[in-house]
Amino acid sequence: MKDILFYQLFEPQSSTYTYLIADSETKEAAIIDPVWETVHRDLKLIRELGLYLMYILETHIHADHITGAAEIRKNTMAQTAVSALAEIDCVDILLVDGRILPLGNKEIKTIATPGHTNACMSFQFEGMIFTGDSLLIRSTGRTDFQEGSATKLYDSITQKLFSLPDETQVYPAHDYQGFTSSTISLEKKLNPRIGGNRSKEDFKKIMEELQLTTPKKMHLALPANNGCGNLEIVRTMSPRSISGIPTVLNEEVYKKIGKVKIIDVRSPEEFHGHLGHIRTSQLLTLGSELTKFLEAGDRFEEIIFVCRSGKRSRQATEESIRLGYKFTSNMAGGMMNWNEKYLPKE
Ligand SMILES: [Fe+2]
Repeated sequence: MKDILFYQLFEPQSSTYTYLIADSETKEAAIIDPVWETVHRDLKLIRELGLYLMYILETHIHADHITGAAEIRKNTMAQTAVSALAEIDCVDILLVDGRILPLGNKEIKTIATPGHTNACMSFQFEGMIFTGDSLLIRSTGRTDFQEGSATKLYDSITQKLFSLPDETQVYPAHDYQGFTSSTISLEKKLNPRIGGNRSKEDFKKIMEELQLTTPKKMHLALPANNGCGNLEIVRTMSPRSISGIPTVLNEEVYKKIGKVKIIDVRSPEEFHGHLGHIRTSQLLTLGSELTKFLEAGDRFEEIIFVCRSGKRSRQATEESIRLGYKFTSNMAGGMMNWNEKYLPKE
């Protein structure tokens, strides 16, 4: 590709593609749909390439992952940009259909493509279209939440995206089959949901019949993304640092029972023994059982670790931080302290 830089980056947990585009002459760049987990990789690449990041563009408010926008904005001079219809007040630029964002000697053009969500935007740049979750490779985004509408998605794809030049390269926000790109001409022909001149009625029926489960991070992703990826918004506890370990007091945990995940890291015998356990806690014994769970988990999940006296739960907190968890804390004093405070004395 002439005069431009283009990187397609991948986040495997949510199968999300992040794109970095730049005018190679002026080095002005934009990042599209950054993911919280891969912010440091992306920032490193931007630094290595000597780029000036101008924009952090979101194709929409994501339900399946937390945006890296806040973290990238903190470390660059870039402005965040999202559709005005998302009604988010923490963004720098509110996008509308047909807006031109200058990028060095080039331009990014916004194309409103509602349907997957009401506030979906596609971005056109140098023969490429970044379609977010509107048009996917041989598929489309779902339309069953966030004001999704099969009718609107059909119109967005058939009237706006399919009217782009046939050779336009299509780069979606996700792919679950291992594809990396397509073209408008291929999707017009081969997309099984909407290609081959499929009717709107057919498309609506296909979308209605999809039996999809709710994205597993949605309960955290939507509030966090509505706050531009500021994770403090979804945080329940405010731990203090004791010898470098985030620590919470048992009365703080008591007030938040049912609102925060509590993991008890003792043995099953202790869990069911005389000190009892916190009713909403999950037993995951310190050691391989806990480590396995943490390795597979979401690094932004807020977890309180509990044990008998606070020692093993401190180790569990350390382990979680080592694995990249951001919002884990140790409950000081463990169940001994908990029982002293909250169990009736004989
Ligand atoms: Fe989405």
